[in-house]
Amino acid sequence: MNRDLGRVFDRVADAYDAGRPSYPDEMYRAVSELTGIDLDGATAVDVGAGTGILTRALRARGSHVIAVEPGAEMLARLTSRLAGGSPAVAAVQGDGNALPLADGVADLVAYAQSWHWLDPVVSIAEARRVLRPRGAIVGCWNLHHAAQAEWLAAYESRLAEAVPAYWGPAMEQWSVPPIASAFEVIEERWIPWTRLVGIEDFLLDLRSHSYMAALSPEAADALVDRQRTELRKEFPEGVLSVPMRVYLAVGR
Ligand SMILES: C[S@@+](CC[C@H](N)C(=O)[O-])C[C@H]1O[C@@H](n2cnc3c(N)ncnc32)[C@H](O)[C@@H]1O
Repeated sequence: MNRDLGRVFDRVADAYDAGRPSYPDEMYRAVSELTGIDLDGATAVDVGAGTGILTRALRARGSHVIAVEPGAEMLARLTSRLAGGSPAVAAVQGDGNALPLADGVADLVAYAQSWHWLDPVVSIAEARRVLRPRGAIVGCWNLHHAAQAEWLAAYESRLAEAVPAYWGPAMEQWSVPPIASAFEVIEERWIPWTRLVGIEDFLLDLRSHSYMAALSPEAADALVDRQRTELRKEFPEGVLSVPMRVYLAVGR
């Protein structure tokens, strides 16, 4: 495996673990409903599992999860948070473009905000290889719904101004990753939800993005300070109500 694959996120693993939100319950209900697969007892491969946000949620619903993640630091957070629970999770350092798994072992192959890091063709061929005949592919992205709140649109615009590598809703040409064109789609769905989060946790989430990891530490600190100042003006009590939406694509 190419050991550089996980480096971007390994640099921000603590912020990722502390700051990123989980996915809403509605998303898991939609996955079961659309695929016809009961998560309880299913075998699910979580590709690009990161610190294990999806892994933990699938396990809590009774799935047998195989978490595949190239980043050693991200994987370390994932395994440390799983200790003692059940069902057991298999956590493997690996590449989603060359899954370290036998053919036909899984009911689900899931990419939780990870597919855009993989080769669009090879990754899906790998997913098909490891899936059982009635298995399904799931792609999901947890996104700020900036059009729903002026303060959030302004927050995203400040990011777009300050971060050369920014890629998000403040850019005209931005769109969700084209996973739905990579396989036979059962359905795409947008699932709205609201995240209540303290300003400091929200700023940790900001620091966990790959585009922030590309800034110098001084530039990242300056941007976080600026965002904190603006957010405190808007939410003096320190808790944000963030309009979110999950983009979910499910297919075979
Ligand atoms: C935005 S994070 C998503 C983590 C997690 N799935 C979640 O929902 O929070 C993207 C993850 O994809 C991983 N990744 C990058 N390239 C990969 C590859 N070729 N194969 C598998 N995972 C990869 C990164 O290391 C990172 O942990």
